[in-house]
Amino acid sequence: MENSYLPYPVRIDEIITETEDRNLKTFKFVFLTPADEEKFAYIPGQFAELSIPGKGEIPIGIASSPSEKGFIKFTVNKVGLVSSHLHNMKVGDIMGLRGPLGISYPWEEMKGKNVVIIGGGFAFTTLRSSIIYMLQPENRANFQKISVVYGARSPGLLLYQDELAQWEARDDINMHITVDGTDDSDWKYNVGFVPTITEEKITSAENAIAIVCGPPIMIKFTQPVLEKLGFPPERIILSLEMRMKCGIGICGRCNIGDKYVCKDGPVFSLAQLKNMPSEY
Ligand SMILES: Cc1cc2nc3c(=O)[nH]c(=O)nc-3n(C[C@H](O)[C@H](O)[C@H](O)COP(=O)(O)OP(=O)(O)OC[C@H]3O[C@@H](n4cnc5c(N)ncnc54)[C@H](O)[C@@H]3O)c2cc1C
Ligand code: FES
Repeated sequence: MENSYLPYPVRIDEIITETEDRNLKTFKFVFLTPADEEKFAYIPGQFAELSIPGKGEIPIGIASSPSEKGFIKFTVNKVGLVSSHLHNMKVGDIMGLRGPLGISYPWEEMKGKNVVIIGGGFAFTTLRSSIIYMLQPENRANFQKISVVYGARSPGLLLYQDELAQWEARDDINMHITVDGTDDSDWKYNVGFVPTITEEKITSAENAIAIVCGPPIMIKFTQPVLEKLGFPPERIILSLEMRMKCGIGICGRCNIGDKYVCKDGPVFSLAQLKNMPSEY
């Protein structure tokens, strides 16, 4: 039996500074052997533990899609000890990657449905993975209309700006990019909070499933908008970011009632969350 605590060694291949405040960077890693890459088979929505020897491990959502071969990407906000050390690392440095962990978005259930992706701030990472995955020519026909509402506080805080522009230009995905406010006269997208733009742009819940990732305040105000539109709680999918340690359902650090967010989540439907203690 393999040791679940043992990370795969990975090399930093590229570091992209995503936001103008320089607090968000995307790290592109390559596995040291093709066998490790093959064993790390993941599905959009899952996360991994990034480990820096002597510093610690942090759970981070996987930002790349399994359809992107030869590398794996994570976008990390610099908040504390481990994430700050990661931000100081260089291309060529070797570190550890443990996973994939947790469950994915409900891809089987999403087949044949209209998919509404709603994201705010840096929680857009696993949503990027999902969009790339759904837009793959071999997967696109599995989904009906794909709509995305993605917001940040200001234009300079939006992630993946080149990709956002490419998706905007496509006719097989409806993008609704927004910022809370801006004085940039060249800004060509929406201005308004994510829940408001969701209410304006998403007109029907018919045969639709919504995936929501963002700060708690965004989720709090988006949830009633989706319910008003007619989304039943089992078709509102959320991803939780609890504090974690082992990531594999052993240490008990991340439990909500009898569920472990690391193992039974981090993806839950609102219907499931309504039956759990409100500790998230
Ligand atoms: C499933 C999952 C997916 C995640 N995906 C991402 C991602 O894609 N990108 C990203 O940047 N971050 C993500 N996070 C959050 C990330 O794990 C934390 O920011 C990270 O653990 C902070 O570690 P640190 O050592 O840098 O900070 P610490 O020194 O541990 O803490 C610094 C500050 O951050 C707070 N903090 C630490 N961990 C968390 C947490 N899990 N939730 C809320 N606040 C926390 C602490 O309370 C403290 O205020 C995810 C968390 C989970 C559980
Ligand atoms: S982090 Fe250890 S049980 Fe979830």
